[in-house]
Amino acid sequence: MAYENLILEHQDYIAIVKINRPKALNALNSATLQELSQVFTEIAQDKNVRVVLLTGNGEKSFVAGADIAEMSKLNPMQAQKFSQLGHRLMNQIENLPQPVIAVVNGFALGGGTELALACDIRIAGEKAKFGQPEVGLGLLAGFGGTQRLPRLVGSGRASEILFTADTLDAQEAYRIGLVNRVYPQEDLMNQAVSLANKIASRAPMGVQLSKSAIHVGQNIDIVSGQAYESAVFGEIFSSEDQKEGCRAFLEKSKYEYKGV
Ligand code: CAA
Repeated sequence: MAYENLILEHQDYIAIVKINRPKALNALNSATLQELSQVFTEIAQDKNVRVVLLTGNGEKSFVAGADIAEMSKLNPMQAQKFSQLGHRLMNQIENLPQPVIAVVNGFALGGGTELALACDIRIAGEKAKFGQPEVGLGLLAGFGGTQRLPRLVGSGRASEILFTADTLDAQEAYRIGLVNRVYPQEDLMNQAVSLANKIASRAPMGVQLSKSAIHVGQNIDIVSGQAYESAVFGEIFSSEDQKEGCRAFLEKSKYEYKGV
């Protein structure tokens, strides 16, 4: 389907979603949140997509936050609904079967950092900037920042970021574990595609069930998490890829995973 604020491209097993609102530095208004939700619904059903790259179109910005112009007109009830719309999208990304890599090409502020946090892996260009500037606008983070940021970087660091509204450069984001890797700006997309291709070459069911076990495990105790892991470990033994993957190893031959 056609999108007004997004560009969807396909490259082999990779879907590349680019947020495209250049006049607002890719800020997330309701229309863009809804389109992102539609594109992820489309991708979830596409068996040819094994990995998603999520980035901002253009050289300057990943996402410069939730749309401040739209938010400035909201009453409390509408603001709560706007926050819930953001949460539904972030949870949808987290629950998407395929892994999603945030390719942070520039500003990732407020809702931009929160969108990156909902992805499985974050990589950044050296010009990327992260932060939660909301308290400098009389707001607070509303798309999951108060929940996901402490889980990823610890509550002390998250509190400093959320209370000061300070901006972090890519190296600082790397130092505190907010991003996995930092690349020269001009190399970022090639590196992203290379990482996505590597993941796409692995058994899709193994990757998808790993993703699901990671997220299930983060919300339950370790024994319940292990029970879930054992259940999906059993489930994968009914797949052709499991049989062929192990057989190829033992026979010292190569096997291309099919996702079945
Ligand atoms: N919402 C709406 N419009 C935005 C925007 C946003 N979050 N960020 C930038 N824009 C618009 C600007 O208003 C400007 O529009 P005009 O050309 O019509 O004036 C255009 O994008 C370009 O922006 P700047 O001229 O400001 O560009 P710059 O290079 O001087 O600065 C920037 C770049 C530092 C990212 C700056 O734009 C900025 O600080 N943006 C806001 C960042 C922010 O505070 N984000 C958090 C939003 S709150 C939030 O996200 C809440 C939540 O969790 C739900």
